[in-house]
Amino acid sequence: MPAQTQPAQAIEALLTEVRSFPPNPSFAASANIQDPGVYEAAAADPEAFWASLARELHWFKPFDNILSWTPPHARWFEGGTLNVAYNCLDRHLSGARRNKAAIIFEGEPGDTRVLTYWDLHREVCKFSNVLKQRGVQKGDRVTIYLPMIPEAAIAMLACARIGAAHSVVFGGFSADSLRERIHDSQSTLLITADGGWRRGNIVRLKAAADEALEGNTSIKQVIVVNRTDDPTRVSMHEGRDHWWHRLMEDAPTHCAAEPMESEDLLYILYTSGSTGKPKGIAHTTGGYLTGVYATTKWIFDMKDSDVYWCTADVGWVTGHSYVVYGPLANGATVLMYEGAPDWPKRDRFWSIIEKFGVTILYTAPTAIRAFMKWGTEWPGKHDLSTLRLLGSVGEPINPEAWIWYHKFIGGERCPIVDTWWQTETGSILITPLPALSTTKPGSASRPFPGISADIVNEHGESVGTGNGGFLVLKKPWPSMLRTLWGDDVRYREVYWSRFEKQGYYFAGDGAKTDSDGDYVLLGRVDDVINVAGHRVSTMEVESALVDHPSVAEAACIGRTHEIKGQAISAFVSIKDGIEHSQELQAELKEHVTKKIGAICRPDDIFFAAELPKTRSGKIMRRLLRDIAEGRALGDTTTLADPSVVAALRSQYEDS
Ligand code: WT7
Repeated sequence: MPAQTQPAQAIEALLTEVRSFPPNPSFAASANIQDPGVYEAAAADPEAFWASLARELHWFKPFDNILSWTPPHARWFEGGTLNVAYNCLDRHLSGARRNKAAIIFEGEPGDTRVLTYWDLHREVCKFSNVLKQRGVQKGDRVTIYLPMIPEAAIAMLACARIGAAHSVVFGGFSADSLRERIHDSQSTLLITADGGWRRGNIVRLKAAADEALEGNTSIKQVIVVNRTDDPTRVSMHEGRDHWWHRLMEDAPTHCAAEPMESEDLLYILYTSGSTGKPKGIAHTTGGYLTGVYATTKWIFDMKDSDVYWCTADVGWVTGHSYVVYGPLANGATVLMYEGAPDWPKRDRFWSIIEKFGVTILYTAPTAIRAFMKWGTEWPGKHDLSTLRLLGSVGEPINPEAWIWYHKFIGGERCPIVDTWWQTETGSILITPLPALSTTKPGSASRPFPGISADIVNEHGESVGTGNGGFLVLKKPWPSMLRTLWGDDVRYREVYWSRFEKQGYYFAGDGAKTDSDGDYVLLGRVDDVINVAGHRVSTMEVESALVDHPSVAEAACIGRTHEIKGQAISAFVSIKDGIEHSQELQAELKEHVTKKIGAICRPDDIFFAAELPKTRSGKIMRRLLRDIAEGRALGDTTTLADPSVVAALRSQYEDS
C-alpha cells in the first residue's frame, strides 16, 4: 500500500464524511455546462471530445490528426498551427472585449493598474519586439524571474508570441536554484526586476540574479523591470543589463504572432522530484492551450462578467495555467496581487475582493487554514457578496477548512471546486463541475470529462470502490507533459516505468474512492513533501544539508502541520567533534534557505547520533515520520540496528 501523508484518523474522517452539497439551482441554471451527459459523451469518444474543444480556439491552419500515441509520447492536433498569445489576446480585440480589463493588478504597497485587452496586446507586441531586438529567436529559451506583476504575464505572452519557450523561476527561489534552472534550460536571456514587495520589504531579485549569473555562459542579455523604484541599489552590467522601460520606449507596437506547430514547445517549468535535480516539465502548444482553455471555462464557469482571482504566483504551474493562459484564452478579467495575505493586515484578501468585486476565488488549503486560524472577524469586515464560485488546489483540503471556506467566504451559496492536478498534467484532471456535482468536503469528485483515471494496486489492477491505491491515468490527455527537458530517459522512468505493461501514467499520489465512487486524494506516495501546496523534494533538502561542512548525514520527512499541511523535519547526524547547538540548528536552516529557497527551510532540525537504516543501508523515513508525529513505531524488524530508533525517539522527546 502507498505511504499516506495524511494521518489515519484524518483519512477515516474523509471516508465517513457525510455532509454533501448538491449543486445550487440558481447557479446551475446559468452555468456554462449544465448537461450531465457530457461525461458519457466524452468517455465514448475522448478524442472527438477534445478535438471539438480545440476547435473553439483560433488556428492559423486546422489540425488534421487529433492524436498520435506512441507510448509514452503523445502528439496532439498535428498538422495544425496556432499561437497561444494570439489566442489569449488578438482573438478578443475585434468585439466588445477590446476595452475589457484583461489584468487588474494590485501591488502590495497599494498601487493599482488596469490593462485592457487592447493595452495588454500592445504591451506584449512591444515586448515581443524588444526580445527580438535583443536576439531572441524562435526555439530559444528565456528565463523569467519576476515578482507577481503584470510584466510577468507580458513577458510570458511575448515569448509565446515569438515562439521562444519560457522557463519561469519562482521569485522565492535562491540564486543557486535560479542558476541551476538557467543552466539546464540553456536560456539566452533573463528577465528579472530590481525587486518585489513582500510584507513591506523588498525581495532583491536582481541581486540574486547577479549571483546566479556568475560564471554563466548561456545568458547574453538581462532585462530588468523597475518595480520598487530604487534603481540606485541595483547594479547594471554595461552591455548585458537593460532597463525594461528604456527598451520599451521606442519598441514598435506591431508584431505578428508566429504560427507555431501544435507540438512546438511552449514552456519549461521546473518541479521537484523524489530524486536528483529538479525536472524540467515540457509543455507544448495546441494540447496545453486546449486543456487550460476548456478546464477554465467548464470548472470555473468563466463568463465575460467575472472578475477572477487565482492567488497563485506565476512561478508555479497554477499561475501559468490559471492566472495567465486559461483565463486569458477565455477573455476573462484576471486579478493579480503581488504580496502577502496578511499585509498590512489580515484582511488584505477580503479587502481586495470587496474593492474589485471579485466573483471567482481560487486559492490553496494552506491559505484557508491560516485564515481560519486568524478568525472570522477579518472576512467579516468586508462585503464578499460578489463571490459566486470558490476553488481549492495544491493539496488535500481537510473537511474543517472546506466547511469554513463554504460558510465564511462563500456565504453558503458558492460551489467549491476542489481541483486535483500537477505541474505535469498541465491542467485540472479531477474536479467537480459546479453545476453538476454534488460536492463533499475532502473529495475532489471525479475525473474531468475525457480523462480516464483509475486507482490501482502495485500490479496495476483496479482496486475497486473504497480501496486505496495508486492514482493513474490510463489514456493520454491534451495538456500532459511531453517529456522532461533534455532527459527523456528520466521521463520514461519517473512516470511510465511503474505501470509499463499497462501503459499507465503514474501520478505519484495515493487515492481512494468513497462509496459514491468519488475520489479522495491521500497525498504523495514518493519522497516528495507538500509544504503549503508546494512540492519539496526530501532529497534536495538533504543534499543542501549535507553540503554544510558540519553535517555527515541527513534525512528529511514531512510531518503533519496544522497550517501548511506538512512541515519539514530534518534528522541530521553531525561530524565527530562538532557540538550540537541551537546556533548550529539556526545555521543549518539558513543554509537550506540560501541553497534552495525559503519554502524548503526545515521547520525543525533534530540532531541524531545515527539514522535508522535497513540492512541494505536505506534510511527508514517511515520510522522518522512516526517519531516526529509521536506515533507508535511501525514495523522495525527490517532495521539493521533496532536500538538506533529507540535511542532516537528518546532523544527526540527530550529535545
Ligand atoms: C501535487 C502536484 C496542481 C497545482 C499545484 C501543485 C498535490 C494538488 C491537489 C488536490 C490533493 C493535491 C498532489 C499532486 N495536489 N492538488 N486538490 N487534492 N492533492 O502542483 O507542485 O505539481 O504538485 O500536489 O500531491 O501530485 P505541483
